[in-house]
Amino acid sequence: MIEATGLTKRYGDTTAVEGMTFTVRPGRVTGFLGPNGAGKSTTMRMIMGLDRPTSGAVTVNGRRYAEHRAPLGEVGALLDAKAVHTGRSARDHLLAQAATHGISRRRVDEVVEMTGLASVARRRAGTFSLGMGQRLGIAAALLGDPQTLILDEPVNGLDPEGVLWVRHLLRGLAAEGRTVFLSSHLMSEMALTADHLVVVGRGRVIADAPVGEIVARAQSSAVQVRTPSAPQLAAVLVRDPGVEVTSLEHDLLEVTGSTPPAIAAVAAAAGLVLHGLAPVETSLEDAYMQLTADAVEYRSTTPHAAAGGRR
Ligand SMILES: Nc1ncnc2c1ncn2[C@@H]1O[C@H](COP(=O)(O)OP(=O)(O)O)[C@@H](O)[C@H]1O
Ligand SMILES: [Mg+2]
Repeated sequence: MIEATGLTKRYGDTTAVEGMTFTVRPGRVTGFLGPNGAGKSTTMRMIMGLDRPTSGAVTVNGRRYAEHRAPLGEVGALLDAKAVHTGRSARDHLLAQAATHGISRRRVDEVVEMTGLASVARRRAGTFSLGMGQRLGIAAALLGDPQTLILDEPVNGLDPEGVLWVRHLLRGLAAEGRTVFLSSHLMSEMALTADHLVVVGRGRVIADAPVGEIVARAQSSAVQVRTPSAPQLAAVLVRDPGVEVTSLEHDLLEVTGSTPPAIAAVAAAAGLVLHGLAPVETSLEDAYMQLTADAVEYRSTTPHAAAGGRR
């Protein structure tokens, strides 16, 4: 379990993290989602005791990282896959880390096997691709068989097979009752991996809820109606205050401010035939864009990335 309370970090004039309060619980995968610059890596460094909070606190299983006697057995982290001694082999890198905690060679070989590094374990880590580096970082995080895992953008640089592998691994670890906290700026990957999301923007928590709830909350209230009598239906629908109708195609309307049963009732009363009536689905991607629309630090000028989702 990870608990952050009023966690704040300033670097000079930059406030990287501002008053974050959240709890990451065991037995599920919690996604830490936010645009670049939102403060995810800074928060993770503070969890691991690599950066000191300006104010507030964060604990793992009730203690600050430095207060744990054998931290590798408590919490494993992948923060920067490039942070390895490039001249050492992958196996030697893991053996050196294992030695600091009295972890056996057998466990080293186990994590090498688990992360699919067996065939390259004796190669110098400096020759590794980003994807292999990520695997090595995950192997190091798993070394102490920790109850809590923290991974900063673990799928960056992985091929599709690697992405799938990470997803299964993390879901499996959560199913064993572990606490799994991973960051990403990629909504689509998070949707498939996480059960719960802590969404952040500009250093603050903007949502903390189950994945499904975040989508439901952003659910657009629009309903699409297919009818051969589109103009007539539009005319009767807009008599209700608050209802707006947009014509999408000659026989397709998008209605806001109403519900499928209410639209059906209005159509029936006017003797108009309906061919289809469907709430407009909000994708997790849309929900994310809506949540973070005001929180994107570096906004792209291309219309595609100019947040705001569907509306
Ligand atoms: N060591 C540092 N010195 C100064 N500013 C930093 C430092 N680390 C991060 N920042 C700033 O803090 C903000 C949050 O960064 P970061 O935690 O890396 O975000 P994320 O991981 O969500 O992309 C950014 O504005 C970044 O430039
Ligand atoms: Mg980051």
